Amino acid sequence: VVKPKVKWLGTPIDDLKRMPECGGLLPPLKNAPGHHTVMIQNAILKYSASQAKKWDFTAFRLYCTTVLEPDDAEHLLGSLLPDMVQLALRASELCTKPIPLLKRGMNHSITMSQEQVACLLANAFFCTFPRRNTRRNEYGNYPDINFFRLFEGSSSRKIEKLKTLMCYFKSVTEQKPTGLVTFTRKGSDGPNWRSSQTQLTKLHITCEGTIEDDGYGMLQVDFANKFVGGGVTSSGLVQEEIRFLINPELIVSRLFTEALGHNECVIITGTQQYSRYTGYAQTYQWDGSHQDTTPRDNWQRKCTEIVAIDALQFKNFLEQFKPEKLNRELNKAFCGFARSEQQSQNLAAVATGNWGCGVFGGDARLKALLQMLAAAEAGRDVAYFTFGDSQLMTDVHKMHSFLTQREIGVGEVYDLLRQYDSSVCRSCLSRRPDVSLYSFIYQQVSSSPAPDDADRGSARH
Ligand code: AR6
Repeated sequence: VVKPKVKWLGTPIDDLKRMPECGGLLPPLKNAPGHHTVMIQNAILKYSASQAKKWDFTAFRLYCTTVLEPDDAEHLLGSLLPDMVQLALRASELCTKPIPLLKRGMNHSITMSQEQVACLLANAFFCTFPRRNTRRNEYGNYPDINFFRLFEGSSSRKIEKLKTLMCYFKSVTEQKPTGLVTFTRKGSDGPNWRSSQTQLTKLHITCEGTIEDDGYGMLQVDFANKFVGGGVTSSGLVQEEIRFLINPELIVSRLFTEALGHNECVIITGTQQYSRYTGYAQTYQWDGSHQDTTPRDNWQRKCTEIVAIDALQFKNFLEQFKPEKLNRELNKAFCGFARSEQQSQNLAAVATGNWGCGVFGGDARLKALLQMLAAAEAGRDVAYFTFGDSQLMTDVHKMHSFLTQREIGVGEVYDLLRQYDSSVCRSCLSRRPDVSLYSFIYQQVSSSPAPDDADRGSARH
């Protein structure tokens, strides 16, 4: 009997651990003086050596290692990032004259190609804009442009933001966009609200849909920060930041737009939507790439006009009814909506919603009225998206019908707002007034005799 030759003994080899399967995730590769000398440097760190010691790339590392499938990670490192580097390096070839700053008080427009924007945003991604890594210098009153804060931390929100922006870079590096985008900074003095005889314009109000999806072709309001784009390159993720992520060309405004003053706005015409999303704030998720079929105007700009207007932030509810705050918000909205050089019949409706009423704590019923007054003065109709709030839809519609049926114009509504402040808000001892603004308006109008129609006056009781 020939014994079979023993080939191996003990534990089967496949039961023994092997790398990389058995290993854990390595900690970030870091220089540790006296222990570990790391000879290579990430290009972003190398370029911004003085600032970069503090920068953290956790979110970007997670994106590459745990979010992307291995094939996609390989595509990112082998193709997309190198293409972005090439795009960033073309700055001096593509941008052949200095970009003016849109400083406070200036009325000025900048038109650039989508390709130039892409090149500038690639530079923002690699954090190459000099003197823009701290606010302690001549750009202290400008938004951040370099993307370093986008790479830090490990929140899923950052990952979703990165997915959205990488979708943009993938699109523009694979297929060069061919249109133009215009950025206009504009200041204006408001009208005399009290003496205005203007009647309200048309209102469409809905609790479904969004400004960006259903307000196509209209003047779309960006619920902005005075530093345009707000927290888009850091952690913010509400209306403005989401818009800047899905239409990333908006982000380049941060390079040259100084903080907005009270009577100023920025109008951006021609940006393209590259991504879809679901959710909002904590639940925001990138939902794939978007084919933007919006037609272009004869300057080759997408017919998408977005206006950045920053509401005031209110911590105290009653504050917003003070005359100077009413005036400020009316004038801000008017600045955003009015186009003195154009005829009213050529002006698209304003697509807006709860401006200043989320993070900024304003009252939606007041803000809806203020925006209707500003739109009326600017000669534009209004499409109002209540973002799911059907009670608000009913209340605002009822108020608009009430005012238009009785032909109560801008000046009279303004006066009612002032009365509400002086007779309800100023004597109010609690945090909230006992009589709501709309009840007050209904009461006041109904109890004052209508001069030309006694029957209608009594019918209101
Ligand atoms: N379409 C219509 N309505 C919307 C949409 C949309 N796509 N998204 C949100 N809303 P918020 P704010 C509604 O809080 O109070 C940013 O950080 C929804 O009801 O973004 O003016 C800026 O950079 C939401 O609650 O605007 C500023 O720093 C409401 O609009 C700050 O937030 C307000 O959205 C501005 O805060």
